Amino acid sequence: MSAHRLLTGKVVIATHNPGKLVEMRELLAPFGVEAVSAGELGLPEPDETGTMFSENAAIKAEAAARASGLPAFADDSGLCVNALDGAPGLFSARWAGPSKDFSAAMARIAHELDRRGVIERRAHFVSALVIAWPDGHAETFEGRVFGEVVPPRGTLGFGYDPLFLPDGHARTFGEMSSHEKHGVDWLTGAALSHRARAFVLLAEACLRRA
Ligand code: IMP
Repeated sequence: MSAHRLLTGKVVIATHNPGKLVEMRELLAPFGVEAVSAGELGLPEPDETGTMFSENAAIKAEAAARASGLPAFADDSGLCVNALDGAPGLFSARWAGPSKDFSAAMARIAHELDRRGVIERRAHFVSALVIAWPDGHAETFEGRVFGEVVPPRGTLGFGYDPLFLPDGHARTFGEMSSHEKHGVDWLTGAALSHRARAFVLLAEACLRRA
């Protein structure tokens, strides 16, 4: 017996991050659900007070579902650098400051690694995706992608994309089209980015192709 619930009709994408919104809309496109963003509905951004990615994603999805009366889904994500004890991690957005300056955030990572004299550059992105319904039902899915922190390259994508080189690839996320970064193969369920990996699990559980 499956405890999963099927998502149909209209869904709120509970993010105010334009980069994430584009990626989530692309990922949802084959499934015939109508996606509206929290920004378009004028929903407030709740405080992210959780201590885990999945908690923060649940806070955002549940707040949007309650406020809109619609199912809502949210991602909480970040970059974890091994040699920085997992930083910036949950604070990935905050490292860019109020002006959302990710060049500065990437420079800070390089600076922190240099300051520690670190050679080891392993890192991973995490995405926790939560779908919440107005009646309180919620489902959580998590994806990770492992790789290395390198000097930033490329102007595509958003956030920390230019400094992340996924394992087995010669180009950073900042040098990949969003299609290549998702890397989704619906036949095999394979995917590349953390968000796409979480989304494939979500789609298998809660979505049907249009
Ligand atoms: P939050 O999930 O809204 O707290 O923000 C997570 C932050 O992590 C984003 O603002 C980005 O800086 C970073 N991040 C998450 N996913 C990605 C990604 O796919 N590429 C680049 N940066 C990302």
